[in-house]
Amino acid sequence: MKVLVIGSGAREHALCRSLSLDPDVTALHCAPGNAGIAEVADLHPVDALDGDAVAELAAGLGADLVVVGPEAPLVAGVADAVRAAGIPVFGPSREAAQLEGSKAFAKDVMAAAGVPTARSYVCTTAEETAEALDAFGAPYVVKDDGLAAGKGVVVTDDLHAAEQHAAGCDRVVIEEFLDGPEVSLFAITDGETVVPLQPAQDFKRALDGDEGPNTGGMGAYSPLPWAEPKLVDEVLRTVLQPTVDELHRRGTPFSGLLYAGLAITSRGVRVIEFNARFGDPETQVVLARLKTPLAGVLLAAANGTLADQPPLRWREDAAVTVVVASHNYPGTPRTGDPITGLDEVAAEDAPDAYVLHAGTKRDGDAVVSAGGRVLSVTATGKDLTEARERAYRAVGRIRLDGSQHRTDIAARAAQSAQTATA
Ligand code: AMP
Ligand code: GLY
Repeated sequence: MKVLVIGSGAREHALCRSLSLDPDVTALHCAPGNAGIAEVADLHPVDALDGDAVAELAAGLGADLVVVGPEAPLVAGVADAVRAAGIPVFGPSREAAQLEGSKAFAKDVMAAAGVPTARSYVCTTAEETAEALDAFGAPYVVKDDGLAAGKGVVVTDDLHAAEQHAAGCDRVVIEEFLDGPEVSLFAITDGETVVPLQPAQDFKRALDGDEGPNTGGMGAYSPLPWAEPKLVDEVLRTVLQPTVDELHRRGTPFSGLLYAGLAITSRGVRVIEFNARFGDPETQVVLARLKTPLAGVLLAAANGTLADQPPLRWREDAAVTVVVASHNYPGTPRTGDPITGLDEVAAEDAPDAYVLHAGTKRDGDAVVSAGGRVLSVTATGKDLTEARERAYRAVGRIRLDGSQHRTDIAARAAQSAQTATA
């Protein structure tokens, strides 16, 4: 099978890594890719937002499957263009991707499907915003309605800051604050059959102890030793299947990856958000644990034959990923700095720990930073404690001037797992 992956982040590197290990994959291409993906796939320049260009590239390569990684091309209709060219594609249509592209749309689908989520108001004027903020009280949750790369949400006790964020958006969703730990649960779907993956937890804030601004994600781990074993079945029954069924009923079936961002509140599971693609950095840890070869599953989702697939198989191992980010991320990052130590990780730590690239590019013989999140250092181990140790040992070998990473990824979960087994 010839596969083309669209995107250039650590998520796409994780997808390409898994696909490169799949014996059914005979050729692997990525566009536009990055310096790390170049080691496992042939790279091609493309404007990932241009559906015709992506379809033309896929046809030229004779691709049997196109996997669209990021949300922006999906919302721009890239999957539709590839599908129209007669090539199987893993990723939802433009219309179905509105589940991520518009928070107001997602709320409407959830209401129709009876999916539990935070109560909310959609506001377009300062008066409506003020009323909604007043109705819920602090902590205030203010979300830009459109795509904002994980940075459109402000959660604050400061009324003025909440109003200011709202004033900078055309349309905002103001919602009730959900307490409790967050879980990311991904499901692969062909528009009817829904196959959940293993849950993961993401660390959204920039700094240790969940301080600092929201980011695209600074690290992740899986499994979740503290979560109830019935969580996945419950979310499948109350969230994932009803959402997929509702979009099917509307005539805009969702095929691809449905990502449920959940809060486990004292009153039960609530959806914080949906995404229409694999999450980053959770994908790095979820795929590290997946034993089933990936290509066949993604192709079955693209072809509408998921119901015929055998159940997914998982490793017993735990996985942890730590994101190494540029100086000043999530503000305007500093780029162009050389990265060293990658060879040491490959020589000393592989295959238990490895580096997935996000914002990197080649500059002659060097690899240099080219974005906010630069690397996602991923490790597996018999438990979270071992996976963490391996991930941080590898992080310690990497040198990137001015870089930052969190030191507490999976720390509490590793601790709780040890206490539970002690
Ligand atoms: P989102 O882009 O919707 O995932 O929001 C980004 C982050 O903001 C989430 O991962 C949560 O940490 C936080 N957040 C979003 N909505 C809520 C809410 N209703 N209550 C509490 N925290 C929230
Ligand atoms: N991990 C958060 C996201 O992918 O949106």
